[in-house]
Amino acid sequence: MLESVEIENTIDIDQIKVESRQLANKLNDVQPKLRIQNISKSFQSNNRGFSALEDINLEAREGEFVCIVGPSGCGKTTLLNIVAGLEKADSGEVWISGHKINGAGPDRVVIFQEAALFPWLNVIKNVEFGLKQKGVNGSQRRNTALEYLKMVHLTKFQHAHVHELSGGMKQRVAIARALAMNPEMLLMDEPFSALDAQTRWILHFELQNIWLKTKKTILFVTHNIREAVCLADRIVILSTSPGRIKKEFTVELPRPRDDNDVNVAEYSTRIMKELKAEINKVVKCEMDADSCVECDIKCTTEVPAKTDVGGGI
Ligand SMILES: Nc1ncnc2c1ncn2[C@@H]1O[C@H](COP(=O)(O)OP(=O)(O)OP(=O)(O)O)[C@@H](O)[C@H]1O
Ligand SMILES: [Mg+2]
Repeated sequence: MLESVEIENTIDIDQIKVESRQLANKLNDVQPKLRIQNISKSFQSNNRGFSALEDINLEAREGEFVCIVGPSGCGKTTLLNIVAGLEKADSGEVWISGHKINGAGPDRVVIFQEAALFPWLNVIKNVEFGLKQKGVNGSQRRNTALEYLKMVHLTKFQHAHVHELSGGMKQRVAIARALAMNPEMLLMDEPFSALDAQTRWILHFELQNIWLKTKKTILFVTHNIREAVCLADRIVILSTSPGRIKKEFTVELPRPRDDNDVNVAEYSTRIMKELKAEINKVVKCEMDADSCVECDIKCTTEVPAKTDVGGGI
């Protein structure tokens, strides 16, 4: 009894909590969760090289939600793939929690536009899949899978087959499967772009709630500005060919945010103004025949630039 009184007298628990939080913040400043350093990447097309990304420098703090936006073809997917370790940069480095990456790893899970679920497995087995590969035992992986299925509100569908799910449900399974692996980062490449506006709206709420609960660091690619404003702490705008960081915006709006909120609309308009010049470049180039001397953009197809009602680019 005497001992515990003495300990309580000498240790100020609240002070320790404050100090450890300050220390964590300092560490985060010194060592962000993600550090992209001087990344450049070029591809070969029609027997000539062109620069897809040039000197990209970007950091994300632990638990930060960063969206990358930019016109079609500006290199968003390429950048995400480089961070995922699926694509190799020509130069530069990517660091996760102070470790230089060298290829793909379980610390980063990618969620693509089309949920890449296994059609021969039911919902819960899809979520369990990665855990099984990791050697997690049966009951433990079932509990983990159920925890995350509950988080995406699909407990009732745990025994359903993939073909019985809607597009939105499939993406929610993909998110549960990714979270079940407890990665350090989620990398999301236009995960909601194939969904109708209403489903996307619901998933914006779901993802915000999941992020608030799990505080995962998320790198999210989209060409929909309103989606970015709805989700992100910070929005990074890439310019077109070569993709360079043009500008960053911090979004200081309370969560959960609603796509239709007037403040979200106002932020989106401001960002759209920044992007207008870039989009015009792409449209002009893609309308051209097959080369564009004026702006040095690699003209790929005759398809007009992507447009998306509700702030898409
Ligand atoms: N493997 C490849 N070989 C040749 N060119 C490529 C390859 N991958 C991407 N590119 C080119 O690199 C550029 C950037 O492509 P990327 O897919 O990263 O763009 P994006 O910003 O994701 O576009 P979108 O919004 O349409 O998805 C494009 O011009 C594309 O054609
Ligand atoms: Mg892409």
